[in-house]
Amino acid sequence: MPDKVLTNFDLEKMVDTSDEWIQTRTGISKRRIISDNINVSDLAVEAAREALLNGNLNIADIDLIILSTCSPEMVMPSTACLVQQKLGAKTMPAFDISAGCTGFIYAITVGTQFIETGLYKKILIIGADALSRYIDWTDRNTCVLFGDGAGAIVLGEVEEGYGILSNYLAASGAGANLLQIPAGGSRVPATENSYEKKLHCVNMNGNEVFKFAVRALPQAAKAALKKANLTIDDVSYVIPHQANTRILEAAARKLKINSDKIISNIDKFGNTSTASIPIALDELAKAHRIKVGDILLLVGFGAGLTWGANVIKWSKATLSN
Ligand code: UT7
Repeated sequence: MPDKVLTNFDLEKMVDTSDEWIQTRTGISKRRIISDNINVSDLAVEAAREALLNGNLNIADIDLIILSTCSPEMVMPSTACLVQQKLGAKTMPAFDISAGCTGFIYAITVGTQFIETGLYKKILIIGADALSRYIDWTDRNTCVLFGDGAGAIVLGEVEEGYGILSNYLAASGAGANLLQIPAGGSRVPATENSYEKKLHCVNMNGNEVFKFAVRALPQAAKAALKKANLTIDDVSYVIPHQANTRILEAAARKLKINSDKIISNIDKFGNTSTASIPIALDELAKAHRIKVGDILLLVGFGAGLTWGANVIKWSKATLSN
């Protein structure tokens, strides 16, 4: 996480909002924001180094880097290549995944295929975002929601019956206009006009995304559990994308799961987009709350629209230091 903290009280001085509104409507009290001299690849590299350390691994043990982000450092090259160079990985393959805030779920699913076919043994999977660089800081509808951060895992072989038990992915381009950064790509290249109209900033229909999220989270969770031949009662922890406490509460009700089992750190970090799931997973692991054999359900939704879930059975190899 970046060091710089931006509280709701700081935001009160920037736009017409209040700590009370933000807390009640979103559950967020503060978020971390990168400083001017830091870029999203720096956050990614720090998360990657910590994941390697926790697994007693060196970068030389890794075969592939997959990085999910919706705030890439540049349109090209991929942020994964910038991270590869900073990690000193010379010619290791590296690529980005763009699946909005569901990116980490997509990245795990893609990575799993390489492990299953035996093409690669160990894959560094990173979720990193710095949406603060794409926020219109005069738009109270969006500027109160997002924070910056990164998280990483190393995916590899574990003993039979453990590890990734199932994956479920979905997308609906029909909802592409609900959450987007319209300019900066080839449709609306950056111009003075696009800058003035703030088209390079996050543009969101919050109400529609909210309704979609409340439907998508339980649907993805149930679909992934069904593929793993498990039910919600088997789940030790749900690690959802951290967007809004009210979305998580609604999902808990629909899934009929005790909200204690739903991991949330949105109050202190806000919505860190594709980084939110690995950050929450890291906190849970570091608090030694996960036991060998526990079933974890990672579930996300985001721009695209995209949504999906992974079911993981925690093994000895997945125990973090
Ligand atoms: O990671 C991906 C995805 N993004 C999400 O998951 C976001 C999903 N959506 C949401 O979380 C919620 O829709 C929001 C938090 C974005 C908005 O909450 P809401 O309860 O849906 O509020 P609203 O948009 O319906 O707005 C209610 C009122 C409006 O005022 P009027 O028209 O009733 O007078 C807004 O103008 O609240 C006003 N408002 C604010 N007031 C104070 C909107 N933003 C703010 C604000 N401070 N920051």
